[in-house]
Amino acid sequence: MLENARKYERDGLKQIPEGQKPSFHVCAPVGWINDPNGFSVYKGEYHLFYQYHPYKTVWGPMHWGHSKSKDFIKWEQLPCALAPDTGYDGQGCFSGSAVEHDGKHMLMYTGVLNKVQEDGTRLLRQTQCIAVGDGVNYEKLDTNPVITGDFLPEGSSREDFRDPKIWIEGEDFYAVIGSRSEETGGQIVLFTSQDAKNWKYAGIIEESRNEYGEVWECPDFFYIDGKQVLLISPTEMMADGLEFHNGNSTIYILGDYDKGNHKLIRERVAAIDYGLDFYAPQTLETADGRRIMVAWMQSWDNYLTPPSFQWSGLMTVPRELHVKNGLLYQNPVRELENYYQKEVKYDAVTINGEKEPDGIKGRQFDLTVEVEARDYEEFAVRFAADDKYYSILRYNPKANTVTFDRTYSGLRKDILHKRSINVKEQKGKIKLRILMDKYTVEVFVNDGEQAMTSLIYTPLEADRIRFLSKGEVKCSIVKYDVAAE
Ligand code: FRU
Repeated sequence: MLENARKYERDGLKQIPEGQKPSFHVCAPVGWINDPNGFSVYKGEYHLFYQYHPYKTVWGPMHWGHSKSKDFIKWEQLPCALAPDTGYDGQGCFSGSAVEHDGKHMLMYTGVLNKVQEDGTRLLRQTQCIAVGDGVNYEKLDTNPVITGDFLPEGSSREDFRDPKIWIEGEDFYAVIGSRSEETGGQIVLFTSQDAKNWKYAGIIEESRNEYGEVWECPDFFYIDGKQVLLISPTEMMADGLEFHNGNSTIYILGDYDKGNHKLIRERVAAIDYGLDFYAPQTLETADGRRIMVAWMQSWDNYLTPPSFQWSGLMTVPRELHVKNGLLYQNPVRELENYYQKEVKYDAVTINGEKEPDGIKGRQFDLTVEVEARDYEEFAVRFAADDKYYSILRYNPKANTVTFDRTYSGLRKDILHKRSINVKEQKGKIKLRILMDKYTVEVFVNDGEQAMTSLIYTPLEADRIRFLSKGEVKCSIVKYDVAAE
């Protein structure tokens, strides 16, 4: 099965038109990808796996695809790493994570068993499994699964029990796993082990308490800048102001960790990213102690892939995380700057109506605009534009909102195309950074205090950028072209 997938992928890769894929974002090789998996450092290189169905551009029996990089920006495609080919994972190798241990690369993932039994009833089980390898080839343990639902306390679901995030602390292995309580919705359970084969249930570190969704998928749990952070992707969330939107969302819970009782003491719950296409983030720690996050840049609710594409799904740019003033900040990894090409800079621009400054255009760029937060009606950046198409980022200083709108980006479906966030000025200014790589739009507000990630599949010829205002606006503009080819 793995060999079939590898062959299919090798052949398929040759058929993707050159230049079609973004340049510095990990994309599906062929077929479909979703969540990032196994984001880890192994032998000094960054490995990124992903949920993968090579045979179609829609979700199907989950394999693990695989890429690696030395710097988070230039990625090398590796052969498919896992296929759903055993009794315990025959219906899917679901999401998971990885660590380096004893010179080996260890993957921990969820095996899915979903079968109609002889008596006609369906048996659905999600269990946790281990595969060990050398950075290219991985072997599943004979003793898999290493954690089954029988380890869970009464009331925790055995059917929604998935997405282990493994880490090593001292001599011990730890894993947080997403689950669901029948009564209170999403929960994250903690397991510990001394050898990664025999695991013990330790406790429930956090729960939805019926407030933040039904199943808590894809947890990550780490300490950074003096705080403990839990990242979660809850299903079936309900909208709350501009903070949370309906459906599959991503949230972080920040607080202190009571290690003895395995409890996260909650201080803040907020959205990780406010865009239209962001889910299932996962992090790694670099050798120099940076916490880097990557997420699936697509959403379960909006399928936008153009019918002519033979690949669907891509990852965000890896982002460096920090906690500052009780908030989670994120910015593209600094390695991106090594790929900056032409710089265009305007220190003091006055916009009253419309302006298209010389040298400001393209579809692969890192653009930062700093605008005064004064008494005008609106400031906007209109990009990926030609006479027919555009996407737009609007800042309304009176309402203190930033809105991304892709209505006229060439969509042919009546799906979600617009989302707003509340923003705060910083010393009388708002900083908007837009990172584009052909179809990807990653917006960072005020040095990463908020992020908004969305996709647009506008034809690549639409590459004009224009600044618009209702009232007089003063701003500064810096733009770099970026390419990793
Ligand atoms: C999240 C998710 C995970 C699961 C995987 C299946 O997007 O639903 O919970 O492991 O996708 O592909």
